[in-house]
Amino acid sequence: MPATVVVGTQWGDEGKGKLTDLIAKEMAMVVRYQGGHNAGHTLVVDGESFALQLVPSGVLYDHIVPVIGNGVVVDPFVLLAEIDTLESKGVDCSRLRVSGNAHLILPYHQELDMLTERYLGKNKLGTTKRGIGPTYADKAMRVGIRVQDLLDEKIFRAKLDAVLGDKNTVLTRVYNRLPTDPDELADRVMAEVVPRLRPHVADSVGLVHDALDAGENVLFEGAQATFLDLDHGTYPFVTSSNPVAGGACTGAGIGPRHIQRVVGIAKAYITRVGAGPFPTELFDADGDALVDRGHEFGTNTGRRRRPGWFDAVMMRQAVRLNSLSEVAITKLDILDTFDTLKVCVAYDVNGERHEHLPYHQSDLHSAKPIYEELPGWQSDLTAVRERSELPTPAVRYLEFLEGQIGAPISLVGVGPGREQFVNFSG
Ligand code: GDP
Ligand code: IMO
Ligand code: MG
Repeated sequence: MPATVVVGTQWGDEGKGKLTDLIAKEMAMVVRYQGGHNAGHTLVVDGESFALQLVPSGVLYDHIVPVIGNGVVVDPFVLLAEIDTLESKGVDCSRLRVSGNAHLILPYHQELDMLTERYLGKNKLGTTKRGIGPTYADKAMRVGIRVQDLLDEKIFRAKLDAVLGDKNTVLTRVYNRLPTDPDELADRVMAEVVPRLRPHVADSVGLVHDALDAGENVLFEGAQATFLDLDHGTYPFVTSSNPVAGGACTGAGIGPRHIQRVVGIAKAYITRVGAGPFPTELFDADGDALVDRGHEFGTNTGRRRRPGWFDAVMMRQAVRLNSLSEVAITKLDILDTFDTLKVCVAYDVNGERHEHLPYHQSDLHSAKPIYEELPGWQSDLTAVRERSELPTPAVRYLEFLEGQIGAPISLVGVGPGREQFVNFSG
């Protein structure tokens, strides 16, 4: 039965958390399929803010089973701390299930992430330093340690011993750091993690298919975004997983025929954290206004996000890469004060017009945006709930985006609160 995927269509922080929470109301299960605690998904419910990193965004509903899929990389210490924070706010996390096949982020992964970035110097990627890259690298190298390994102390200790032989050589000889003591780390994991995590560990693929077979709606929540995708993003300025909708298949264990609806989330403008090409980036007062009005600072890392105008060229690529059936536009209210708004409709690459994303990264670096300018509305949208209440220039802006993207806009965000949205399709 129906599977829905929520996917970021830009460079992250589009408001996936808010939209997932919104759509999750009609779902029985919400499954995260990739990434780790590099994600920061914010939900605002009744004025209270929840910043989720690993726990799926459906957790606030009592009827939902939140599942961390096999494609996710899990720092068990962070996960338990997140559960504690949620429970201190009255959120019941007992239904949370974690795939036994998910890989573990352990302290040496974070240390290596930090050291690699330091070593790269001015060429650094600007990672979140959460150990994401090193953990997925271990998975691909087949030396990773999985959540299921926690359930057998002998296996866990043996795997940790083996992998730390190699990691400690790198840590001590390449980076001149202290080695990680395998016994100390294993003792800590066995004492602090295993007793608490054990009840949550599950066969996530079985759970997802039982729900689908029973005719229940299952939502797959992507983290990061299309242009941070390891294969399709602006490599090497990407994350180490596959946030695109297809990632839901591998990261949760379903075939593509289950997916009936793919909701692409896009801000009404665009932001990016960390390094990498960004054709519509703004370095002027408009950019500062987007950052100030949009509070564009990382949910977890606090870093200033780089702002830019909406890029329809990227969105057309996102439609292709994800088979988007609809688009939700978020943060339209942030544009409330602008006299005019720009939308990038094509790129000029060495005098040639490109309506679709050039495949060569050098072309993307040198691409100059070709803009169309539209009038702003200069009124406060945060209390708008119906399409008919939107000022005409706002409707025109959204219709213009729809035409440029080539996919219908379903929902439009006009504020961070769960209730602050407009159903644009009807
Ligand atoms: P995610 O990583 O895609 O889940 O997005 P983040 O939570 O990192 O960043 C989005 C930010 O915008 C959060 O602070 C949200 O509360 C906020 N937000 C989401 N939708 C809207 C919206 O429509 N309007 C406004 N003003 N804020 C929004
Ligand atoms: P959500 O789910 C925005 C970026 C980092 C860096 C690159 C690689 O909240 O949208 P990594 O730590 O993954 O190896 O960093 O990816 N990045 C994000 N940017 N939102 C995110 O998640 C991100 N997760 C990673 O800034 O440029
Ligand atoms: Mg975020």
